[in-house]
Amino acid sequence: MAEKTHSHDMTLSDPATGKEYTLPVLEGSVGPKVIDIRKLYGQSGYFTYDPGFTSTASCDSAITYIDGDAGQLLHRGYRIEDLAEHCNYMEVCYLLLRGKLPNAAEKTEFEHTITYHTMLHEQILNFFRGFRRDAHPMAIMVGVIGALSAFYHDSTDINDPEQRMVASHRLVAKMPTIAALAFKYSSGQPFTYPQNKLSYAENFLHMTFSVPAEEYEINPAVARAMDKIFILHADHEQNASTSTVRIAGSSGANPFACIAAGISCLWGPAHGGANEAVLQMLYEIGHKDNIPKYLEKAKDKNDPFRLMGFGHRVYKNLDPRAGVLKSSCDEVLDQLGVNDPLLELARELERIALEDDYFRERKLFPNVDFYSGIILKAIGFPTSMFTVLFALARTVGWVAQWNEMITDPNQKIGRPRQLFTGSDERAFIPIDKR
Ligand code: ACO
Repeated sequence: MAEKTHSHDMTLSDPATGKEYTLPVLEGSVGPKVIDIRKLYGQSGYFTYDPGFTSTASCDSAITYIDGDAGQLLHRGYRIEDLAEHCNYMEVCYLLLRGKLPNAAEKTEFEHTITYHTMLHEQILNFFRGFRRDAHPMAIMVGVIGALSAFYHDSTDINDPEQRMVASHRLVAKMPTIAALAFKYSSGQPFTYPQNKLSYAENFLHMTFSVPAEEYEINPAVARAMDKIFILHADHEQNASTSTVRIAGSSGANPFACIAAGISCLWGPAHGGANEAVLQMLYEIGHKDNIPKYLEKAKDKNDPFRLMGFGHRVYKNLDPRAGVLKSSCDEVLDQLGVNDPLLELARELERIALEDDYFRERKLFPNVDFYSGIILKAIGFPTSMFTVLFALARTVGWVAQWNEMITDPNQKIGRPRQLFTGSDERAFIPIDKR
């Protein structure tokens, strides 16, 4: 990681006391500078106020860089468009975890390591059987991933770099197995086991869709689309679930527990749950004649309806991942011979929304979730699996960010402060006098 440098100092003056405070301004390699307020409270007695962290950098990171105005996403300096076109997911995992793209020998070795960690302790299968068949697969994911710490004790010492790497490999390797089992369990089909001759994406498709009764043939176009979806979701700097993983990890919690925390956060419809919500919204809109009515609902502040798959905290331009997915959507649907009217509806919704002043003024563009659901539906996944696939792909990002945090000498337990608006100290009232 390149060291941050001191750019200059900034002065904060307080007219209430006449005092002035000098705050260092720090500079990273690229992107906005930051005002270092770490000593502000000690010197002035003031906290800073930033609900939702809209202007707060919470850590140093050298993994992913986003320029939201330019619609740019870089992993370790490489454009997401280039990675999606030229790499497979395993290479991107290596890049995120190790900081550089692998050469051919390193790629083979890494793929071998991940492949040979895909099986689960057999006892974990019993854990699945404790859930109701109609459990949401994300509920199963939260439970089973958290439970991995009960099975893999030899990789929970966070101070041992070797154990951290083994835990990282296990998480990346076992996620597809667990995700596929969550699907199998909810659909009442028998559990399938990984096959080492298959690639990461192929193996996931095999474990999800094959049944013992017949041979399952993997469509190479589907496997490539799956791999691309994994690449596009691999990391996204300090988003809500990644920050959750970092905060959970900052207390010294084990990696499996931290990733379970990330999965819980991802589940919400404002984050990873949006891909499921996009399809539900398209079903609800039903026909392009209804689009104007739903756009009005989305603009009405008294109506909870929002245009799902639109808007982003960081991107104020097209999400570059949405651009890649939009073109692979046509390709996949063509190759599968699927003519999905929802795609037509989505395109029309996008077109009308992008011409609408409300969305233009607020710079609300389609995000990655807008098109991913349509591809996943065409491949055959039920909507309840969409966020599971996001969690599967994002695990490598969470794990890379968690590792970076553990090795950061500036790392402290994540503990925000508050602006208290409740009652001041008051006299206790006995129960018979209340
Ligand atoms: N539909 C209608 N209006 C919207 C939408 C939307 N999807 N998104 C934002 N707005 C409006 C807000 O009402 C607000 O309007 P105002 O300035 O008049 O009050 C303005 O745009 C800014 O929006 P905020 O909610 O303040 O932006 P924030 O950065 O907090 O939220 C978020 C970003 C959560 C992604 C939001 O755009 C949203 O809810 N989108 C829909 C859900 C979604 O697609 N989430 C996926 C995000 S990407 C991901 O996690 C992979």
